[in-house]
Amino acid sequence: MLALTIESSCDETSAAVIEDGRRILSNAVASQIPIHRRYGGVVPELASRNHVRDIHTVLDEALRDAGVELADIEGYGVTAGPGLVGALLVGIETAKALAWVNDKPCVGLNHLEGHLTAVLLDVETIPTIEFPYVGAIVSGGHTDLYVVHELGAYTLLGRTRDDAAGEAFDKVAKMLGLPYPGGVEIDRLAATGDPTAFDFPRPMWTRKHLDFSFSGLKTAVLYEIERSGVPEGQPLSDLCASFQAAVVDVLVMKAFAAAEQNDTRQVVFSGGVACNSGLRQAAARAAAETGRHAVFAPPRLCTDNAAMLGPIAEFYLAPKTGFDAYELGANANLHFGKNERMVSETPNRHR
Ligand code: KG4
Ligand code: ZN
Repeated sequence: MLALTIESSCDETSAAVIEDGRRILSNAVASQIPIHRRYGGVVPELASRNHVRDIHTVLDEALRDAGVELADIEGYGVTAGPGLVGALLVGIETAKALAWVNDKPCVGLNHLEGHLTAVLLDVETIPTIEFPYVGAIVSGGHTDLYVVHELGAYTLLGRTRDDAAGEAFDKVAKMLGLPYPGGVEIDRLAATGDPTAFDFPRPMWTRKHLDFSFSGLKTAVLYEIERSGVPEGQPLSDLCASFQAAVVDVLVMKAFAAAEQNDTRQVVFSGGVACNSGLRQAAARAAAETGRHAVFAPPRLCTDNAAMLGPIAEFYLAPKTGFDAYELGANANLHFGKNERMVSETPNRHR
């Protein structure tokens, strides 16, 4: 099937054309990062407005790059949650309108499920994926560990009890006067820093449960800044490297503990923080030590994008024929329940 997917849950407007749920024919992304940067984070109202502004350009680009016409598209998949309601609605109403006028099926998709299964796309640098695998979503909004049994079936093993990993990166970066999104800046500075220079805590350092907590670590950085001021030059790089090492150590330890406890060979990292070079190196080391495999999609498929929806779009569109998505709406809090085998639910209309 030739599917068109749309993602607009946060600050990226994206459309992709995917063949048979695996082959990326195009993946157009318009990032709003420069717009939100001056506010130090995503401003929901601005996000919605800029999605409205960019969605048509992104759709045109996706069709043009794929070399197809709208009439060739056989189904539509759109992020229905979780995310910012106003932002989600832009993608949802666009997908519904296109599907309705062309009488093609349209399905609402779970953003988290998209991150978790992006590695199923045909990409040269991604190894063959074997079910079940442990999927770690590490993004600005989530830090979750799942077992992915197969497409559509996931068990949530643990999640953050407070800040998401990316949120901690962004907040610490803000304290250090670094621009949004802070993860990218901290990663860059950490490359020349000493990760042992500052002794930051490794919160929830236990294999007994697979939950995370990053707010205490963030406070430890705040106390350090209150004590000694915002560092500059080499000490700034050292602080970034030390903070990054603390986050990465916990993420890698818990993700590989999950793989051991659930007897999976592959540990798949996704979400924006999966771009982090320290995480990639540490996961590769842990994989070598434990005889497992750390799998990362290329960075453009880790941050928010519409191509990552390809595998689940195909999966949920397959049984459908014409348009029946009249009731499809945004669900800002769409999530999976804990410790149960979940079949992803159809997103409900926002109330
Ligand atoms: O998946 P994503 O694009 O959006 C969400 O669904 O949240 O993730 C964005 C997050 C931001 O917090 C950003 O700081 C973080 O990913 N991020 C990074 C890196 N690149 C992006 N964090 C650490 N290192 C990076 N290289
Ligand atoms: Zn995301």
